[in-house]
Amino acid sequence: MRLRRRDVLAGAVAMAAVPSFASPMPVLRAAAGTAQLAPPEYDPTPIWGYDAAVPGPEIRLAQGARLTRRLLNELPQPTSVHWHGIRIENAMDGVVGMTQEAVPPGGSFDYDFALPDAGTYWYHPHHRTWEQMARGLYGPLIVEEAQPPEVDEELVLMLDDWRFAADATLHDSFGAPHDWAHAGRIGNWVTVNGRPDWQHRVAQGARLRLRLINCANARIFPLALSGMRAHVVALDGQPVERPYAVSEVTLAPAQRCDLIVDVTAAAGGTARITERDREGELALADFPVEGVARSADLEPPAALPPNALPEIGALDGAQVAQMRMQGGAMGGMLSAELNGTRQDMRALAGQGAFWALEGVAMLAEAPFLRAALGETVRIALRNDTAWPHAMHLHGHHFRRVDSGTPGPWRDTLLLDRRESAEIAFVADNPGKWLFHCHMLEHAAGGMVTWIEVG
Ligand code: C2O
Ligand code: CU
Repeated sequence: MRLRRRDVLAGAVAMAAVPSFASPMPVLRAAAGTAQLAPPEYDPTPIWGYDAAVPGPEIRLAQGARLTRRLLNELPQPTSVHWHGIRIENAMDGVVGMTQEAVPPGGSFDYDFALPDAGTYWYHPHHRTWEQMARGLYGPLIVEEAQPPEVDEELVLMLDDWRFAADATLHDSFGAPHDWAHAGRIGNWVTVNGRPDWQHRVAQGARLRLRLINCANARIFPLALSGMRAHVVALDGQPVERPYAVSEVTLAPAQRCDLIVDVTAAAGGTARITERDREGELALADFPVEGVARSADLEPPAALPPNALPEIGALDGAQVAQMRMQGGAMGGMLSAELNGTRQDMRALAGQGAFWALEGVAMLAEAPFLRAALGETVRIALRNDTAWPHAMHLHGHHFRRVDSGTPGPWRDTLLLDRRESAEIAFVADNPGKWLFHCHMLEHAAGGMVTWIEVG
């Protein structure tokens, strides 16, 4: 049986419908709204969202196209938009205080940049991110391959957790020092695409492309897949060289995983994505199976066409920087440099600085390293803390290189407590780029640095 080609036109039509009232650009509003995140017996939760929704509108464009959006800030506090994972031009990276000024309430900012890589990306603020993302500001950014794989259906799943008060309003513990020094703002309620009970009907034997995105502040999602045969075809937007079969996937904050899955559950049954950890199991996404799409198994999926990333090449002779990750509760950090002076832990904590990278808390005046344009850079990370961290590099993708063959391209790497990993990348994108933990309270609490390229 032949597969139906996915309807790419649907995305194009939705795009054209974005209102552009008196503006040369399509508009993306950051605004307060409400969302039915909790079951229907609760009132809708007041949120902040792009176009006042959770998730924000899906932005879907062809590889090589330009993304243009005028951000209108209708929030009561300044904001910006960061386009996570895009190998973007520096001025469009959205990092307040580094690549742009914060957009004040009532203000606007025009984003206009090329999309070099196909894949699954997302957008979120880069100012008070720990608060603004926890309130619901994020949306999917899908860059389509010229020749997408043939599937029956493609679905984007944005996973998030929320910290609710008893009435399903957002708990007002934003910025609580305990969260900053420990695991971050972990929620007590989980949604997929802003819904408590997300589900989607499928047919037995159907082939789906699932684009999973972890939008949580700090939650790591250990996922188990049942009733489906799944292959990983891309990580953090970038195709893997050889798709591989999985029954479990772990998504750290900000990480993405593209799966091609064939529904194996029989009609009348349910395929399911479950969060499975020490505390138990939670069904996140249900795929009730109705009818039969095909009865014969399909061939395992082929690799997606690779993006033109600069290959790392020889590591010998490349600059190597050591980066110890330090601090946090039970981390034993005694002191670190903050604002150019060495300070003890008590003084640091008083200023909200609980974490450090190679002895420096928060952004220093000077970059952690400088790279010449096109130079290969190695960073040897060592997690000297009692917590896992999800380290994210802006403007580039990297490979893990400390275990024989280089790992897949990623923009966010999960390091377990006490784990070491070496990453390498070609610094081919000029500008000032952040490197930080994507557990947002950790980043705000000091686990952030920057590199300068060119
Ligand atoms: Cu997803 Cu520095 O960001
Ligand atoms: Cu962290």
